[in-house]
Amino acid sequence: MRRLILAGAESAWLRQRAMRAPFVRHAVSRFMPGETMEEALEAAREIGARQGIGMLLTHLGENLASLSEAEAVTAHYLDLIDRVQAAGLDAQPSVKLTQLGLDLGSAECFRNVLALVERAESAGSMVWIDMESSPYVDPTLDIFRRLRERSPRVGVCLQAYLRRTASDLDALLPIGAAVRLVKGAYREPPSVAFPRKADVDEQYYQLARRFFDPALPPETFLGIGTHDERLVERIRTTAAAGGADRSRYEHEMLYGIQRPLQEKLVRARVPLRVLISYGEFWFPWFMRRLAERPANVVFVARSLLRG
Ligand code: FDA
Repeated sequence: MRRLILAGAESAWLRQRAMRAPFVRHAVSRFMPGETMEEALEAAREIGARQGIGMLLTHLGENLASLSEAEAVTAHYLDLIDRVQAAGLDAQPSVKLTQLGLDLGSAECFRNVLALVERAESAGSMVWIDMESSPYVDPTLDIFRRLRERSPRVGVCLQAYLRRTASDLDALLPIGAAVRLVKGAYREPPSVAFPRKADVDEQYYQLARRFFDPALPPETFLGIGTHDERLVERIRTTAAAGGADRSRYEHEMLYGIQRPLQEKLVRARVPLRVLISYGEFWFPWFMRRLAERPANVVFVARSLLRG
């Protein structure tokens, strides 16, 4: 089922039809407060005020076809950083490098993301770099390392399902990197990614616990990007047992997913950030959310029946 839905995420035919269907748009609203920056900022303000937690903001889109589009996306994020600062919100942008021109030129992409990191640094914020499918891991980590040499205000996502991630972490921990650890959301062959969920979960835990080593550089930071309650509890127990400094890690979850767990962490005063996605190009992103949980397909089907 997961592989079938992820294959659908890559279909232009399906995208064109699904994006027009009212029942799909209704289902999407569960994971996304709106398509515009204003709607995302309003949701960030409301959740921030109600729960006292931080936000991550992503303008959806990937694999652009021209550098002028990538420059427009860069301008959009610069505006976002300014508006977040003006509104006094605790919200950090989370960006995809293919949306900033990675397919079209690594130098141009680097220039675009550097502009964002510099603006975020002067606003007292930071920029997170998402991780896309496996062919992008090397170019993404290369750009991350070059940015990290210039500023500590940048973090990168690593995917626990990839066989290579433990050795990527070997290289990133000594430089005091900020890393968001996730399980991974793309369709990957078994030669590249662990096919069994139990192996991915165990690898996630083993990677996460490495961040609680007190000998690491003080800037090292872990974003625990999972909604898996069992893993969340296991990592919390390890962090508490090792006396981990709460300023060096936070939990990160997606808007609309596992709300009871989010509320539980807020009540326990555990640092939490919620990622709000917005934008018109939501189809592949929405399909990845469906693939994460087969029950979501039932939810979409129910929306169809309700009309
Ligand atoms: P898992 O899939 O095991 O889910 C655990 C439980 O959470 C489920 O049993 C269910 O209750 C709930 N749940 C999870 N997903 C759900 C959904 N879609 N709908 C409803 N309930 C759901 N991936 C990537 O490849 N590159 C990236 O850059 C990012 N960035 C990113 C940022 C942040 C902040 C988060 C939280 C996640 C990502 N991801 C990502 C996505 C990630 O790889 C992964 O696909 C999802 O987080 C789902 O995996 P879990 O770790 O939540 O576990």
